[in-house]
Amino acid sequence: MNTEAKKRIEELTNIINQANYEYYTLSNPSLTDQEFDKYIRELENLENEYPELASPTSPTKRVGGEVIDKFKKIKHRIPMLSLPDVFNEEEIRAFDDRIKKSGFHVEYVCELKIDGLSGSFHYEDGKLITGATRGDGVIGEDITHNVKTIRTIPLSLKEKTDIEVRGEIFMGRETLASLNRDRSEKNLPLLQNCRNAAAGSIRQLDSKIAAERKLDSWIYHLPNPEDYGIKTHYEALEFMKSLGFKVNPNNRLVKDIDGILKFIEEFQEKRSYLPYDIDGVVIKVNDLEVQSALGYTAKHPKWAIAYKFPAEEVLTKLTDIIFTVGRTGRITPNAVLEPVIVMGSTIKRATLHNEDYVKEKDLKIGDIVSIRKAGDVIPEVVEAKKERRVGNELKFQMISNCPICGSVLEKKAGQVDHYCMNNKCPARKIEGLIHFCERKAMNIDGLGEKIMEDFFNLGFIKSIPDIYHLEKHQKDLQELEGYGKKSIDNLLNAIENSKQNSLEKLIFGLGIEGIGDKTALVLSKKYKTLDNIATQSEEELRKMKDIGSILAKNIHDFFENGDNIELINTLKELGLNTKYLGPEEKFNENISGKRFVVTGTISFMSREEIEATIENYGGFPSNSVSGKTNVVIVGEKPGSKAEKAKDLQIEIWDEEKWKSVYNNLEIDKEQD
Ligand code: IVH
Repeated sequence: MNTEAKKRIEELTNIINQANYEYYTLSNPSLTDQEFDKYIRELENLENEYPELASPTSPTKRVGGEVIDKFKKIKHRIPMLSLPDVFNEEEIRAFDDRIKKSGFHVEYVCELKIDGLSGSFHYEDGKLITGATRGDGVIGEDITHNVKTIRTIPLSLKEKTDIEVRGEIFMGRETLASLNRDRSEKNLPLLQNCRNAAAGSIRQLDSKIAAERKLDSWIYHLPNPEDYGIKTHYEALEFMKSLGFKVNPNNRLVKDIDGILKFIEEFQEKRSYLPYDIDGVVIKVNDLEVQSALGYTAKHPKWAIAYKFPAEEVLTKLTDIIFTVGRTGRITPNAVLEPVIVMGSTIKRATLHNEDYVKEKDLKIGDIVSIRKAGDVIPEVVEAKKERRVGNELKFQMISNCPICGSVLEKKAGQVDHYCMNNKCPARKIEGLIHFCERKAMNIDGLGEKIMEDFFNLGFIKSIPDIYHLEKHQKDLQELEGYGKKSIDNLLNAIENSKQNSLEKLIFGLGIEGIGDKTALVLSKKYKTLDNIATQSEEELRKMKDIGSILAKNIHDFFENGDNIELINTLKELGLNTKYLGPEEKFNENISGKRFVVTGTISFMSREEIEATIENYGGFPSNSVSGKTNVVIVGEKPGSKAEKAKDLQIEIWDEEKWKSVYNNLEIDKEQD
């Protein structure tokens, strides 16, 4: 063995780990980027030359590269419990009273409740061995390959000790914003919020993806403090910090309930300025002996609670209401707001849906309105603060002509929306073209909103077939600012590849009114070819479970229209596939044919994955609960959908139930 190389690898590992710690955990770098890169390259070179000396916890693993084919299960040696939620001062006082009644006079530690997902990190001899998700609290999933990419989780500790620590894996707000800027340019769907983004990133099989997502951590729990002679939770936090973990500097030791309430009040205000999402405050008894004496229920420790903040609402001014035209011609009024920060992101616009919505809320231009981010994602105008009116607010006036092409708007009987009926309206055309290229439609990476607007205005793309003639403009494109040869080649390749898409993507892309990606899939699975769908009678189409009389008429009308027939013929001539190429559906009695809504967080799977599984087995995931819904899957922190499901007496599955259904599917798959 080359002892020189071994020694140098050790030296480099220490230098790099220390630099990482200073940069990411302490935010106090001591090396320049160039110096850091130089050490990394030297270490990579040595590891390439002497692979037998490359450690599984080498800092070169931070950039990812390890790919697993499935998540292994890990049994937690000590179960990972969750905390009981409380929502108001009364409940916090009740917690404090209960503890005092047990004869204890305690101090508490107040911590921020980080909105991410919890993880458990296990070290032997100071080296990271495994990282696991909480799972169901007893069994989690092995995410070690991804944990190694989280720069604030040390690969080697400052002491060669055996230890397990727990904390929250999260994504910072700026990271989310920057990833989404990038995704928006690439026409990829945006990551919904920090928590989902973190959960989705940690459940990647390929650690390169997790590495790109730049996850972060706060460590807040030591499951077996007695092994280290530690007497209080606060000491445990200090101890974990001294080993190199990132421990939140806002944690505070308080003497009594007043200290707790002050902490909550303070962070309710500071919340929107923090660089990461929090959804409450965790309150823990500090003395570990008292913790032990209080003990546990089946699910929770009795020595801690999680106070959840109420949904955040802020006030701002409604400066204007502007109208946009969608691809179907639908007109949407939008609130233009004085920019305001809600849950960490700046809100300038919010949809007002339609005329009735604005009238019901009696919104006037100039009003002070309250804004809430519903479900953490879509900003919503809650109400006008009428008492703040000064008299110069302007009454809302619905428009009667299309804001883009000027044609007279129509409102169909019994419907709330106004439509621009001009098929040649440029706004409709652009929106239609953008829709055609969307990920769920033809998935043409590189033809997002902005680029499509440019190409439309430059006259390169005026209709769908023009997309497939874009190579004719290759020269012009290369002269445009910001379009290198490589990006044009990539774009032309993406366009060419889209010709091989399965039928449902084309159907959805064509933008038949009311036909979403799910209905497009159902139609494609049933009828297999575009011609076959095009020749069905309205009556025949109506027989399908998912298609009512309006959709049947829309489909039928679409394929009767001469312009559309011409378009389809042209697309066929251009070589676009018009057959269903997807897999034949699997069957499962719990899922197939049923309509599902998923709400809240299921700890071991993202919503997208659950929905994909449901689809795979011939079920129909949907976003809203209605009388037609068969099952609502309710995870942690569900939205109002869970309530609605109860009201409508719809079957509810909790995480356990979904898990058992899902695990049986796994067996199905293995037997296949
Ligand atoms: S303590 C036994 N501290 O909130 C101790 N949890 O139900 C258990 N969380 O699952 C956790 N910030 O994912 C703790 N400072 C904090 C936390 C925290 C976020 C999460 C964690 C847990 C849930 C509580």
